[in-house]
Amino acid sequence: MAQQIGYSKKVMEHFMNPRNVGVIENADGYGKVGNPVCGDLMEIYIKVKDEKIDDIKFKTFGCGSAIATSSMVTEMAKGKDLDEAMKITRQDVADELEGLPPQKMHCSNLAADALHEAIKDYQSRKEGAGIK
Ligand code: FES
Repeated sequence: MAQQIGYSKKVMEHFMNPRNVGVIENADGYGKVGNPVCGDLMEIYIKVKDEKIDDIKFKTFGCGSAIATSSMVTEMAKGKDLDEAMKITRQDVADELEGLPPQKMHCSNLAADALHEAIKDYQSRKEGAGIK
């Protein structure tokens, strides 16, 4: 019968019950990245308090792995210092999910990148450099 294509239980669990889905009104930082390979899109919103990620939400228009990685990255980043959250890599996210099938590794790029974009957005707003 249908063969499993190598998704870990954790990937399936986050895909079925994604954490922190939604939008934060008046977010302090916002990141949006698209995946040029498949055209999928991810958005991350953060609220920052004392230079820590106080709240984080995501919206992903993408495949199951993209949803699972976004869910995981929000869990990993919540409560972290901005510097630490900035250091979360796509590999960390994939490891935390107990691996992704090799053909799906590119999907994890979105989550870490969107998080980093949201932090950079917050920092540039703070410095006033974000005023265009
Ligand atoms: Fe597009 Fe996974 S196939 S992010």
